[in-house]
Amino acid sequence: MTRVQNSITACAGPSLALTKYWGKTADGINIPATPSLGITLSPLRSTATVTLTSRIQSITVNGQAQDSKRYTPFFEAAAKLFEHPTGFYAECTNDFPTSAGLASSSSGFAALAFAINAMNSDTLSLKDLSRLARIGSGSAARAVYGGFVTWPAQSDHAVQIHDHHFWPELRVIVCIVEAAPKTMSSRQAMNLVRDTSPYYTGWIQNSTLLHNDALAALEARDLEKLGVTARHSYLQMFGTMLAMSPPLLYWTPVSIQLIQLAQTMREQGIDVWETMDAGPQVKLLCLDSEVDTIMHTIREHIPTVTTLVTQAGPGPCVTPTLQV
Ligand code: PMV
Repeated sequence: MTRVQNSITACAGPSLALTKYWGKTADGINIPATPSLGITLSPLRSTATVTLTSRIQSITVNGQAQDSKRYTPFFEAAAKLFEHPTGFYAECTNDFPTSAGLASSSSGFAALAFAINAMNSDTLSLKDLSRLARIGSGSAARAVYGGFVTWPAQSDHAVQIHDHHFWPELRVIVCIVEAAPKTMSSRQAMNLVRDTSPYYTGWIQNSTLLHNDALAALEARDLEKLGVTARHSYLQMFGTMLAMSPPLLYWTPVSIQLIQLAQTMREQGIDVWETMDAGPQVKLLCLDSEVDTIMHTIREHIPTVTTLVTQAGPGPCVTPTLQV
């Protein structure tokens, strides 16, 4: 018999993809058609406090009640862990913009999965936590681990390759171009791409090649090779969106300015490589030694952009919530 605690808080960092999960297979919930490689970022963080309730599921994100439909499959899977029927009341907060292309759903669902598992005496392995978090949001399958994480195509869970100490000099400068939530969720965009984009098949076919290149570059801690591959991955992903019906472009003029500025910096010998997700934000991969130069260059050319310097961080953590 497991001991059930009533309320638990857990935190997790978002998983930034260097090669992208973009497309789902027909079977299961959020089973990827492409392999992906993620870095769990620190110090960005989502915090989830979960309380057991009678049978109602409800959730707030940054204090706003959410449409529970989106969360139902996750909460139903989580409820099956408990011996008795249960519901959950969850309060989530993000210390970075939500639903804006910064993977807040990856860290949110990873934190939720950890909190719920801790309420149930930590019965799940990391592999099972990855499976559970994936039901909420695909990329959350990666965010249950710290460091560098691979999620093979067709797999129902992700696997850690290296912890966050593997490449201490690596940095990711997150450039926040637009903090407002995006107009179309990655979930909707992914489905439309699969159903309408003539480039979808080519994207899926090429994704394994890119992923293998990225894994080799990571092993060698070769930033240039990793950067070249990460660029191919995000640009090919956006290619599928440009070709879908109706076409979708998350970028803003400032996103393009940042892409071009990274190109200019590379021409000046600075090792900086951008990637983007389903949103307008730009993330710059670089080494610690070049952060100051890059930040100075961004401030000089695009002073309106907010920047956050991040690096690979540990996996989720759990803290018991005091009962009053
Ligand atoms: O986990 P979702 O459904 O929000 O999809 C994530 C999609 C990307 O962020 C664009 C890519 C990825 O691998 O994280």
